[in-house]
Amino acid sequence: MRISRRSFLRTSLKTSLKTSLAASLAGGSLLPRLARAQSGSPKDLLRVALVGCGGRGSGAASQALATRGEVQLVAVADAFSDRLDSCLEHLAAIHGERVAVPEERKFVGFDAYRQAIDADVDVVILATPPGFRPLHFEYAVNAGRHVFMEKPVAVDGPGIRRVLAAAEVARSRDLKIGVGLQRHHDARYLETIERIRQGAIGEIVLLRAYWDSGGVWTRPREAGQTEMEYQMRNWYYFNWLCGDHIVEQHIHNLDVCNWVMGATPVSAQGQGGRQVRSGIEHGEIFDHHAVEFTYANGTKLMSQCRHIPGTWTSVSEHASGSEGTANISAGRIEGRGGWNWRWRGDVPDAYQVEHDVLFAAIREGHEHNEARRGAEATMTAILGRMATYSGQQVSWNDALGSELSLSPESYAWDAAPPTSPDAEGRYPIPMPGVTRAF
Ligand SMILES: NC(=O)c1ccc[n+]([C@@H]2O[C@H](COP(=O)([O-])OP(=O)(O)OC[C@H]3O[C@@H](n4cnc5c(N)ncnc54)[C@H](O)[C@@H]3O)[C@@H](O)[C@H]2O)c1
Repeated sequence: MRISRRSFLRTSLKTSLKTSLAASLAGGSLLPRLARAQSGSPKDLLRVALVGCGGRGSGAASQALATRGEVQLVAVADAFSDRLDSCLEHLAAIHGERVAVPEERKFVGFDAYRQAIDADVDVVILATPPGFRPLHFEYAVNAGRHVFMEKPVAVDGPGIRRVLAAAEVARSRDLKIGVGLQRHHDARYLETIERIRQGAIGEIVLLRAYWDSGGVWTRPREAGQTEMEYQMRNWYYFNWLCGDHIVEQHIHNLDVCNWVMGATPVSAQGQGGRQVRSGIEHGEIFDHHAVEFTYANGTKLMSQCRHIPGTWTSVSEHASGSEGTANISAGRIEGRGGWNWRWRGDVPDAYQVEHDVLFAAIREGHEHNEARRGAEATMTAILGRMATYSGQQVSWNDALGSELSLSPESYAWDAAPPTSPDAEGRYPIPMPGVTRAF
């Protein structure tokens, strides 16, 4: 199966251009569009299931419960009961009776997602580590549920193809799908990118994207854990669950660049490795990647992501054009001839807005399906990882068509994960020039 690189982004951009044009005619800001999306007359109760009760799952459930109209959280699923319990306690303290989850609708384990989705619910929030997303998304769509799913939506080519197929089923069944790439619901990004699209910096000649930071948590191995349980707890450091940090975090910045270009890259080459974050608790992923992506018109995107404490930090996107430059994340444009613009409005919480928009679409019945965009952004990040792991130039088509699946053969606490440690607790690390990465 081949994805049409431009078709989705072209369509979504057209919609976004139309909407933002209407907004600017109405008064120069995109905020009215966002407000209108929230103002539909609330219909009936919407019943929500949450799959993946961690930090983001708790946040997404909270945002769903804060949308207009009657909403209840009625079923929850997690691999681990302790995560489920603490999440419910947290949500109940904030949302009171909107959290209506009796014992019989609390589900634990690898099959918990099925039970929660099969409970009598309208909307499912998918917020496990991304390795499970294709399986869970496909199941939710086949069950006829509206979905909010966190990014990334997969970790490998086969997973992306599965998500794309399910996205089409969702479209044909008029299911509404939100994806947690919240910059698309951030007023500052919307207006800045709209201005770039309208020619504020001329023709784009170069893009730059960064997620350079100190890194994230580790969860230590505990006595009595099976290898599967350890990897599930410390999921960030295993590719079958996380996809590496280029996929897990840098996806946001790469997604913004695709949005500006109205396209996905045709190829990538790059380098990466693990120089500092190389303890046994750091599994198998790299701590830095630097990738040069190429779009069909020859435009380059220079991308960096790093997880090394004590180094320069930046989470941002930048565009250079024939007539000026834009710091997209800061909402700043410097055009030729002294024509400058800066976003000066408030920035409503995009995590909340993305749920407001999804729930309004469900209640009002208008089209809303972000799955393809989520798949394309995820695929861009996977393409970058394939380039840094292999040390090769990798084409979009080879990456998307790759048959290399990172999934384990089965999901059970005593099953073997796809990678296992040596006697010292160390995992095989991808080696450029040697590793088969796609
Ligand atoms: N959009 C954003 O800005 C943003 C921010 C943070 C996280 N996220 C995304 O949200 C997802 C979750 O991240 P997090 O930070 O909440 O991680 P987390 O570890 O806090 O939570 C993940 C939860 O999923 C559970 N889980 C794992 N496998 C499961 C399975 N098969 N079935 C049911 N439950 C399972 C875990 O036990 C855990 O409770 C990731 O995809 C991450 O990239 C997005």
